[in-house]
Amino acid sequence: MNATNSKWVIANWKMNPVSQKAAANLAYEIGVHLASFSPDRFINQELAKQNWAHIILAPSFIHLLAVQQQIASQNMQPLLKLAAQNICGQQAEKGAFTGEVSAAQLAEMGIGAVIVGHSERRQYFAENDDLLAKKIANAFAYDLQVIFCIGESHEQYLAKQTFAVLAKQLEVLAQFTLNIPKTNQTSNFTPKLLVAYEPIWAIGTGLTPTLFEIEQVHNFISETLSAMQVYAPILYGGSVNAKNAAELATVPLVDGVLVGGAALDADSFWQIIVAFS
Ligand code: PGA
Repeated sequence: MNATNSKWVIANWKMNPVSQKAAANLAYEIGVHLASFSPDRFINQELAKQNWAHIILAPSFIHLLAVQQQIASQNMQPLLKLAAQNICGQQAEKGAFTGEVSAAQLAEMGIGAVIVGHSERRQYFAENDDLLAKKIANAFAYDLQVIFCIGESHEQYLAKQTFAVLAKQLEVLAQFTLNIPKTNQTSNFTPKLLVAYEPIWAIGTGLTPTLFEIEQVHNFISETLSAMQVYAPILYGGSVNAKNAAELATVPLVDGVLVGGAALDADSFWQIIVAFS
């Protein structure tokens, strides 16, 4: 194995599962897959030489501790990292913000990353660019890695407005150019920012853009980030599953995936990890 794998496989468990026990068990099963890995299991021996993709699990807030303890009990901390699905925008540390969780609280608990700007937060919780910028600022203040989600609606896709929509969503990042490195640094460098392209119409629907469309969009995002002098790995999200992961992994500029539904099944999620490892 070498240290060149810079792919990312991130599980967004959303508001799943119901019980803490089931959440810990899901982490346990992923840990078992990782622990039982033997290079012989790879048909392609070239794959066996690579490092694992960076794996991040994002459970509900209320399950973070149980999942963290489960990962530690299997000594999987080096391979399985954790992210929160949300963060308080108003305050980075503490205060009178009922129902919120701060960047400081996450950092203190050893959570290293947070998802910001998921379309479900934009849609159901009316999160706008101003609030997203505050969330990003708070995350950076406590050195949390930001997984920033962008994506167009089906109407926008059909109207060929995808690039315009994404360009607008990416503008939020312009104020953070001092926080985010301009280029990919060394192979063991941890990026401050990951951008996840998630077409809204592909989330949970079983639909995906064509591989060519994904390549074009990732290319556009990459160019937009470069013009802003910001570097970020670019992930694809939206109906990623055990079947389509291998072909997605072949698309240029797809640096990994953000997975919802298929991440709730350890075997499916494992297949996706293997595809990107
Ligand atoms: P999905 O969700 O994989 O269930 O489509 C992806 C996401 O919302 O991050």
